[in-house]
Amino acid sequence: MAREYPKEVKVRDGGTIVLKPFEKKDKDALFLFFQKLPEGDRLFLKDNVTDPAVVERWAVELNYDKVFPLLAWRGSEVAADATLHKNLGGWMKHVGTIRIVVGGEYQRLGLGSILANELFLHALKCGLEKIVAEMMETQQGAKKVFEKLGFRQEAVFHGHVRDQIGVRHDLLVLTKDLEDFWANIQTHEYFSYPSRPMEG
Ligand SMILES: CC(C)(COP(=O)(O)OP(=O)(O)OC[C@H]1O[C@@H](n2cnc3c(N)ncnc32)[C@H](O)[C@@H]1OP(=O)(O)O)[C@@H](O)C(=O)NCCC(=O)NCCS
Repeated sequence: MAREYPKEVKVRDGGTIVLKPFEKKDKDALFLFFQKLPEGDRLFLKDNVTDPAVVERWAVELNYDKVFPLLAWRGSEVAADATLHKNLGGWMKHVGTIRIVVGGEYQRLGLGSILANELFLHALKCGLEKIVAEMMETQQGAKKVFEKLGFRQEAVFHGHVRDQIGVRHDLLVLTKDLEDFWANIQTHEYFSYPSRPMEG
């Protein structure tokens, strides 16, 4: 497990949330989280998370170098799930994708922003050069979360994705390019970052 976790954060209702990477033993709690998710939010997720086999597969195939899944806990309940997807090889080895789902009762408390920030920092530590967030045009909350972090809409693919009941939607692709960040930080005399440890 990454050294900085578990990590406690405060959210807007004054309560505490604990951030911890997903482990195999968390799969039932994660499945329950998805079951309790408002239907309207579940509709727009990439995977059919009502199928227990999906969460089971994530637990079996767990590999933090490929997918870094961060869970937000309030007590024994999962409040949110956020993932950074990396490419272990190939022409998009420098690109990572962030996905976030916050439980209905925990939305609008700043948790989505905290998780986006957390995974963004994790992506930096992995040496990634470009971060992507994909969403349907209906997911305006998600757009706002990423725009606050400096992501910009780079592309729209019209009618490109179907929600879980089969309705087609536009796919928005928001990105943040870190090439300039790395160029500046590596030439700073006080910060000679080692050759970026691109995983994989
Ligand atoms: C999108 C999502 C992750 C946002 O999480 P959250 O914890 O509610 O977000 P935050 O509380 O950090 O809000 C960040 C900003 O977005 C705004 N926002 C959040 N949800 C919003 C919505 N549905 N409509 C408009 N604005 C919204 C907040 O007002 C806030 O702005 P502010 O800082 O100016 O007040 C959450 O609503 C969610 O999981 N939705 C369903 C799945 C999804 O869309 N995932 C994204 C795919 S990458």
